[in-house]
Amino acid sequence: MILARWEPERLTPLLHSTNPPSGNLYVKSEHYHLSYGVMNTDTRRPDSHQVGVPRAFSGIQPTGTPHLGNYLGAIRNWVELQTSTDGVYCIVDLHALSVPREPGEIRRATLETAKDLIACGIDLDRSTLFVQSQVREHTELAWHLQCVAAFGELRRMTQFKDKSESNEFVSTALFTYPALQAADIVLYDTDIVPVGDDQRQHIEFTRDVTGRFNARFGTDGTDVLVMPELRIPPVAARVMDLQHPENKMSKSADSPQGTVLLTDSEAEVAKKLKRAVTDNDGEVRFDPETKPGVSNLLTILGAVTGRQTVDLADDYTQYGPLKADTAEALIELLRPIQKRRDELDDGAVTAMLTAGADKARAVAEPVMERVRAAVDLL
Ligand code: TYM
Repeated sequence: MILARWEPERLTPLLHSTNPPSGNLYVKSEHYHLSYGVMNTDTRRPDSHQVGVPRAFSGIQPTGTPHLGNYLGAIRNWVELQTSTDGVYCIVDLHALSVPREPGEIRRATLETAKDLIACGIDLDRSTLFVQSQVREHTELAWHLQCVAAFGELRRMTQFKDKSESNEFVSTALFTYPALQAADIVLYDTDIVPVGDDQRQHIEFTRDVTGRFNARFGTDGTDVLVMPELRIPPVAARVMDLQHPENKMSKSADSPQGTVLLTDSEAEVAKKLKRAVTDNDGEVRFDPETKPGVSNLLTILGAVTGRQTVDLADDYTQYGPLKADTAEALIELLRPIQKRRDELDDGAVTAMLTAGADKARAVAEPVMERVRAAVDLL
């Protein structure tokens, strides 16, 4: 049983019933399983929610056009979650400043990213879409979380290690980045964080600092911050680069031929797929360890068509047709997104983001008040 978002009249009796809701509710929508638990315990959990509707929060950096990895690993799951959660989606422009940028670069990219997200199906009547720097509470809460984050745990973050090796100038912000990400999440009393696999460690860090903050500042058995859960998709949680299939597809990697952008033309998609790196043994088999290139193609095709990678592998005896079919599936996937994107107007999207920030602030301000009260300064 899937319930649409604002259906408290159907949800409330279920959530408060003494018998657990029937199997289907659990099986089809684990979000409600989560809500059920939340609503029926003598919860320690503070709440800023509509009754029984879990909140999803996630973010994307405005650093160039989103790619297929962003789409399959994150964005399309945000779109899907709109039917079962209160979705709050953030373009994290302050995070993007943790490496040097040209003036104006992030402003432009923020607007472009907003268009991409709307074109992908983020529906502003159902979800909140906003820009991080327009809600000041993010940076204030980040400070409080830095105060309970250990230097040692930040130093262990693999993204920091990777980025600090590849950047000439390593800012302090790059180091404390996960604390700002944790603040983004807990500022909205978030239940679930839908992200790709590369964000796993940052969400685990978020949970650690949330627990530590609650232990330090919670009183009378009540938590100050809601503990979020990681939500990684079962398929395509880590889409790999087409040219370097041992690396994840990435905006920052210097591999334009290995990265399918959501704005790529049909010819570009076809060319990138045709040239995708495979191997020499000529066998179509799903085996990411020994056959990363072919497995990545099967993953992409499977994620787009909804078919299992092992079944797909049985359909092909040669790499050429697998590449051609994957290209065709991607072209079909991108066509309506690109069409919607072309219809979006800068002024209208800017206004939507302003309205989104107002909606976000209405949640963030009281949560920040709660944090200030707990920290107890003069
Ligand atoms: P970012 O901008 O790098 O990526 C946005 C989302 O896309 C996912 N992703 C991928 N998924 C599958 N395969 C890939 N190759 C791939 N590349 C990227 C990411 O996992 C992510 O979900 N630190 C975050 C932004 C952030 C955030 C947050 C996320 C800031 N605050 C709070 C969640 C909650 C980042 O740099 O994502």
